[in-house]
Amino acid sequence: MSNFKIIVANWKMNPSIFEGIELLKSINQSIVRKKISSKIVICPPSLIIRDAIRIFSNSSISVGSQDCHYAQIGPFTGDLSYKMFEDIGCEYSIIGHSERRANHFESNKLIFEKLNSLNKSKIMPILCVGESFDEKNSGKASEAVIRQINESGINELEFKQKIIAYEPIWAIGSGKTPTKDEIMTIHGKIREKLNSKPNSNNIKVLYGGSVNVENASDIFSIKGVDGALIGGASLKQADFIKIIESVKI
Ligand code: 13P
Repeated sequence: MSNFKIIVANWKMNPSIFEGIELLKSINQSIVRKKISSKIVICPPSLIIRDAIRIFSNSSISVGSQDCHYAQIGPFTGDLSYKMFEDIGCEYSIIGHSERRANHFESNKLIFEKLNSLNKSKIMPILCVGESFDEKNSGKASEAVIRQINESGINELEFKQKIIAYEPIWAIGSGKTPTKDEIMTIHGKIREKLNSKPNSNNIKVLYGGSVNVENASDIFSIKGVDGALIGGASLKQADFIKIIESVKI
């Protein structure tokens, strides 16, 4: 597996339930017919995760949640526990996405609780980190990212594989991306930080934020980019498949 990538689709709160099920089916059909060397993970809205698992039952596509609660069960109205996702067959969970940090006030301490619980499960977390526009403009991008990594406590936990998604907040949904050098530098710093602990040799650093058909191949070719976390473009079947195919084998 010379150029093994992990390509994660984060559908967020899209599309409608019925369109989502059709999209799952059409992604499955197109991937079954192709030789894909990357690991593909689809994170649809929670209400269609079981449909996704059923639809992908004969394929190598994995399913993930977009978040989870750290408790197994309990008085947490509206939440879904990591154990519930594990029980229905989710293999991955996006943790600490900037939209959850912003809209649900998720702190690094809460993110640690989630990682800690996932560490006791079969689910692999995909920890999102990324700087704001102001942090970027004041030259503090890597400082902000490393602080999130430190405070999330991921280095204290022994995951089989650590997956970090570097998603600059200003790049999400904006059509803007950092330069290749900027991505390479931050990915290098993330890897260095995680490598500073023993037993952390299996590290994957994904890039996320306005990945599309036009820039995917360039992004995948950057040193230290082990894959991508894709929002908008993962909702268009043809684009998503083209992005997957743009990984040079
Ligand atoms: P876009 O690909 O739409 O910029 O979203 C990125 C993202 O937030 C994925 O988690």
